[in-house]
Amino acid sequence: MKKSLGIRKCLFPAAGYGTRFLPATKAMPKEMLPIVNKPLIQYGVEEALEAGMTQIGFIVGRGKRAIADHFDNNYELEHQIKGTSKEKYLDDIRNVMDSCDFVFMRQREMLGLGHAILTGEPMIGTEPFAVILADDLCAAPTEEDDMKALGQLAALYQRYQCSIIAIEEVPMEDTASYGIISGEEIADGIYQVRDMVEKPNPEDAPTNMAIIGRYILTPEIFDYLRKTKPGANGEIQITDALRALAQDRQVLAVKFKGRRFDCGSVEGFIEATNYYYENSYKSK
Ligand code: UTP
Repeated sequence: MKKSLGIRKCLFPAAGYGTRFLPATKAMPKEMLPIVNKPLIQYGVEEALEAGMTQIGFIVGRGKRAIADHFDNNYELEHQIKGTSKEKYLDDIRNVMDSCDFVFMRQREMLGLGHAILTGEPMIGTEPFAVILADDLCAAPTEEDDMKALGQLAALYQRYQCSIIAIEEVPMEDTASYGIISGEEIADGIYQVRDMVEKPNPEDAPTNMAIIGRYILTPEIFDYLRKTKPGANGEIQITDALRALAQDRQVLAVKFKGRRFDCGSVEGFIEATNYYYENSYKSK
């Protein structure tokens, strides 16, 4: 684990249905789909741990028990492979389990990402926290020492002490799949958010700077979420709450270093699989 960057808690909203991956996600959570031999959610938790976060909160719905089982002992299996060459396959997950505490909260109705984050309030309390959407998979930048996206945001939080979201430039024709921000660049790749809009059509999008699934949020976001009315798709959107917050306080958006794969889509999932096979698995 790297040195603590001051934020201890990370939420993983994982209550969605994952309809784009049906039928694979009919009885199995989308977050358990593997990129090569590791489930998406484990990549996410490892990224949080790298950023110094050890209090992990999962927002789950019905049918997500496999996530809880993944971060728990499996005595029979462990006994079976003890002392064999296969034991090494459990090294990474053991490290995560030994380093983190896990809390599971149920989102009983799928009322949107903003609502899922609000469901995590009892675990977060009144401290700044992180959010990872595990289906956005962030690979480390090529420079050896650099942290992945969440660690980069957490380091910036130490300096700016405000809500910070990760952004990426996307093709203009894809804006309807993302929250899109506009704002002033105050330092290299760091924007002070002026406005943000959820899933705009290209002709209505103010820029092509898309919000991706890494956030550092200050706890007042919960008050804004409580006041947020259902928006795009009839869901309570984190983007709407953040827009309101940005009108009252500083909210920053950061072009993080490294690659992101949209593993919520089949194309992104295949790209990530090829990338991790070539760059991580094969070279081990
Ligand atoms: P998505 O929009 O990707 O939805 O949610 P989804 O259900 O996961 O996937 P598709 O579109 O049906 O294929 C973005 C993130 O927000 C979480 C999801 O689990 C995902 O991590 N989410 C969304 C919730 O936890 N609760 C909700 O009510 C909605």
